[in-house]
Amino acid sequence: MEQKSRPAISASPGSATVDLSVEIAGLVLRNPVMTASGTFASGREFAGFVDLSRLGALVTKGVSSDPWSGNESPRIAETSSGMLNSIGLQNPGVEAFCERDLAWLAGQDVPVVVNVSGHTVADYAAVVERLERERGVAAYEVNISCPNLDAGGMAFGTACAPAAEVTRAVRAVTKRPVIVKLSPNVTDIAEIARAVEAAGADAVSLINTLLGMAIDARTRRPKLARTVGGLSGPAIKPVALRMVWQVAGAVSIPVIGCGGIMTGEDAVEFLLAGASAVQVGTANFVDPGATVHVIDGIVEYCRISGISSARELIGALDT
Ligand SMILES: Cc1cc2nc3c(=O)[nH]c(=O)nc-3n(C[C@H](O)[C@H](O)[C@H](O)COP(=O)(O)O)c2cc1C
Repeated sequence: MEQKSRPAISASPGSATVDLSVEIAGLVLRNPVMTASGTFASGREFAGFVDLSRLGALVTKGVSSDPWSGNESPRIAETSSGMLNSIGLQNPGVEAFCERDLAWLAGQDVPVVVNVSGHTVADYAAVVERLERERGVAAYEVNISCPNLDAGGMAFGTACAPAAEVTRAVRAVTKRPVIVKLSPNVTDIAEIARAVEAAGADAVSLINTLLGMAIDARTRRPKLARTVGGLSGPAIKPVALRMVWQVAGAVSIPVIGCGGIMTGEDAVEFLLAGASAVQVGTANFVDPGATVHVIDGIVEYCRISGISSARELIGALDT
């Protein structure tokens, strides 16, 4: 990876303004901080805590063609430095999403990225085709961690061919930017990233949750009704950073980093590893204002470091 000189950290913060804007697939974001899908509800629920117009972008909960009821409870378990969830992509379906959520979001001063779920390739394309009729969609984020029902339930994102197939199907029905969200539950995430880039993705985001499990020793039962779930939060940050760094070195399209970001400094680490933007997920459950605190933390880091543009940080890891 290209090496750039590391800024010296000065003792006292400067007062110069910092340009936080970044560009992802032709979209200029006012800052690199986005919400992570599924952790910010439809946005409306957080509007009392966060000035949505301060966000770089808002990523919605996963939307499927028909309503999905999700998995049985318990479907959340706290872990050391993180949480497990097996929500099961519960959502009201694309029609209800357009009426209830998108109509409201379109009136907010924030780019809206719609996260798309599907059990078949045709499902993904159908959701995007429906959303093409709506204004107020800045980009799509295609979640390829969904189980592929045409292939025995294995997630689309765990092999290059199905990951590329979903990407091509979505690419064929939209000119809006397509971000493909990668699963970390693979041996070589860089090869999946290259496959979706070749299939037409404009950007990739990573990581989704890592498969995990929690057991209650007293009851001798799994803590989740589904036994296994997705691990998120600070526990996964080192894995996410490693994967972002690997993928940024493997593709030419922008990378959006996600996994355990709690502070501005966490976000800066992802930018240094090669991410052009970041997403904040589990932190929203701890502090509903986490996204804004992360933005303020990036500004503080830049001021202390004498950096005038957050773009200077992207890929500036000194190895
Ligand atoms: C409760 C919950 C629901 C989630 N729902 C989705 C989803 O609908 N689509 C998706 O692509 N990722 C979903 N994710 C994954 C997050 O967007 C994110 O990739 C992951 O949690 C890692 O980031 P974090 O450690 O900051 O939470 C969900 C995560 C959690 C904790």
